[in-house]
Amino acid sequence: MTMRPIILAAALAAAAPLPAAAQGQLNLYCSATIEWCTPIARGFERETGIRVTLAQKSTGEMLAQLRAEARNPRGDVWWGGTGDPHVAAGEEGLTQPHESPRIAELHDWAQAQWRQTQGRTVGVYASVLGFGFNTELVARRNLPAPRCWADLLNPAYRGELQMANPNSSGTAYIVIATLVQMMGEEPAFDYLKRLHGSINAYPRSGTAPITAVARGETALSISFVHNAAEEAAAGFPVGHAVPCEGTGYEIGSMSIIRGARNLDNARRFYDWALSAEAQIAASREARKLQTMANRNVPLTDGAPNMATARIIDYDNARFGASAERRRLLARWDREVGALPR
Ligand code: G6P
Repeated sequence: MTMRPIILAAALAAAAPLPAAAQGQLNLYCSATIEWCTPIARGFERETGIRVTLAQKSTGEMLAQLRAEARNPRGDVWWGGTGDPHVAAGEEGLTQPHESPRIAELHDWAQAQWRQTQGRTVGVYASVLGFGFNTELVARRNLPAPRCWADLLNPAYRGELQMANPNSSGTAYIVIATLVQMMGEEPAFDYLKRLHGSINAYPRSGTAPITAVARGETALSISFVHNAAEEAAAGFPVGHAVPCEGTGYEIGSMSIIRGARNLDNARRFYDWALSAEAQIAASREARKLQTMANRNVPLTDGAPNMATARIIDYDNARFGASAERRRLLARWDREVGALPR
């Protein structure tokens, strides 16, 4: 008999979050680059006094982490990274809905992401997929600057091109999804197989290829054009192009993790991160050039303008669906990634 309350108390202590964590902490998972994640985390700390711990991973890798932690969630909010893995996480019950009073302040694409997922994820920024190239290297090697998807199959680019690995990188998954939408699945996979011969590496993160371009380690990359513009603004010899046939785009997203131990702080962060003030301050500090979700955030000088790019009507529901994502990634592994180069 005397054992019972002790066992109960022990069970409660094991199940309940730590009191300190419940009051003053937020565990932020971030799938943008660390230059982005840090000012977002510190800006929220400054605003609220809530201590933020930060973990950064590529979008596909973070989805895998959420799956692994599903029974014992450690993160509270997942900020940034491409939309498809956020949509998949919502479908898998790894994230939970939130209705922010700021939803009405957002661009249509950000609101659409929220509505389509029944409030499980919301757009925080957007950007257009394209090519980056090292202007000095292409000139030195006498390579034409790429303008169209078709140009990338030019044999002169053999060994000169990088894109990220789509299993880890949300950016690279958008490359596959974009080509499937533009060409149809069979021609898209034929294209990816032919492209494979020109690829010198598939690094894990979506920004690694453009960093390699900026450093002169590779001549060309498939990247978000804002990342190329950021390298150019930092003084590197980097040009970019939006593919002439049209292209896809990302809705960088934010979700509250299901079972968040610091749920009130997670909601507070979510509402703050959708405000124009937070988006202006953090994007300036990070020197990032995406289009931010709040309509009252002006486009930064030098940022690519999505309104003038020829973008497809990206099917977020289909390509964010878990089963479709797994199927396309498995097909890419089998038919493209496994091929010799
Ligand atoms: C960079 C871009 C973001 C994008 C992210 C995706 O940080 O600036 O706009 O959301 O990459 O990263 P991933 O490694 O998953 O491709």
